[in-house]
Amino acid sequence: MLLTNNLTVNEQGHLAIGGVDTVELAREYGTPLYVMDEGRIRLACRQFKQSIDNYYGGRGIAHYASKAFCCKEMCRIIADEGLGLDVVSIGELYTAMSVNFPPERIGFHGNNKTEEELRYALECSLGHIIVDNLTELETLDRIAGEMGKNARIMFRVKPGIEAHTHEFIMTGQIDSKFGLALENGEAMGAVKRALAMKNVTLGGLHCHIGSQIFDIDPFVMAADVMLHFIADIKEQTGYEVEELNLGGGFGIKYTEQENPSAYDLYMQKVSDKVKNTCAALKLKQPYIVIEPGRSIAGPAGITLYQVGSVKKIPGVRTYVSIDGGMTDNPRYALYQSRYEAVCANKADAPRDQTVTIAGKCCESGDLIGKDMPLQQVEPGDILAVLATGAYNYSMASHYNRIPNPAVVMVKDGTSRLIIKRETPEDLIRCDL
Ligand code: LLP
Repeated sequence: MLLTNNLTVNEQGHLAIGGVDTVELAREYGTPLYVMDEGRIRLACRQFKQSIDNYYGGRGIAHYASKAFCCKEMCRIIADEGLGLDVVSIGELYTAMSVNFPPERIGFHGNNKTEEELRYALECSLGHIIVDNLTELETLDRIAGEMGKNARIMFRVKPGIEAHTHEFIMTGQIDSKFGLALENGEAMGAVKRALAMKNVTLGGLHCHIGSQIFDIDPFVMAADVMLHFIADIKEQTGYEVEELNLGGGFGIKYTEQENPSAYDLYMQKVSDKVKNTCAALKLKQPYIVIEPGRSIAGPAGITLYQVGSVKKIPGVRTYVSIDGGMTDNPRYALYQSRYEAVCANKADAPRDQTVTIAGKCCESGDLIGKDMPLQQVEPGDILAVLATGAYNYSMASHYNRIPNPAVVMVKDGTSRLIIKRETPEDLIRCDL
């Protein structure tokens, strides 16, 4: 029921995270409240690092995809663990720079970076700007020239692999807003153009096949496709790509029924593929970057709410209304995502009823989930929704002018505030 072993039920029958009683957290910091477990974040970082060491001789690095959960403290922790960072907007980059994240370990993504963003990225001297299209390439070359800088770039390539949770299919894959296509020569054309440019240095190639992927095979196939492209580039231009960024997308356990592959196995299989294909194609083994986001932040977080009304509609369903909803977790509304919920102050009781958890927005679709098992709850109880560390805070909105919750970090039995709760005054700060 609790998904990860940093979640426990203590002597009072309360849910605890990282050794901290969640009912106490709700009392001290208020609800809704995002709670992140530092131990769990660091553990995931170390597992990725360890698997790169074990299977690829340490010739690679994990860049945390900060879109999953970005704030100053998260950037500090990621920097401290020696990982790099994937940023995708001026805001994520600014957050990272505000805590002196080493810029050489930052990759800047996005399919439509603005000139302002490109200029800022160049000022910061980032490790790589991952160029999505030819317009961006030309703009970057021009801006870098104007600024007297040289832009280190990678190209985002569509490897032609579409990955789903339990299956994968090869597709033409031209139909994606991200990156350059292989099959129509677009990617090769961009590589040749970049090699001829004065203000741009091509450092590598990037691909990302999707998110919340459980199978390892699509990742292995993507690596294979990218290596064949590297061989083609070498043959046609003599230039050998030295760095290959294989993106993120590793699935996590949101519900008891889900069973993601171990990340260790991913690195083992991808490393084998890279080594074998490089040998077969007579290539140097590239430096490998991976970009896990959800798998680092997701299992580390939970959200605490207070139960308001409990509406039992006989023969229809039971609605449990909470003091948050789609503004702090839009994932059910967007993707019909499934979660586990636990009554934090009755965590030792059986989850013997089926409920629909509803948020407080003026919108019927504002649900955290339908038909979820839960303890018998009453108004005033504390509800915990599990595995909300990724793509919850980062996707929060101000719909209905609901202030964003606070974020608390727990570590070995202690807690500290890392993001303050917004106030109504915060919401009118930019209003004129
Ligand atoms: N690298 C690139 C270029 C990406 O676009 C992404 C995610 C990642 C890495 C990290 O993927 P992860 O390891 O977190 O799966 N909002 C959606 C997820 C969107 C993911 C977008 N890109 C959700 O809530 O499920």
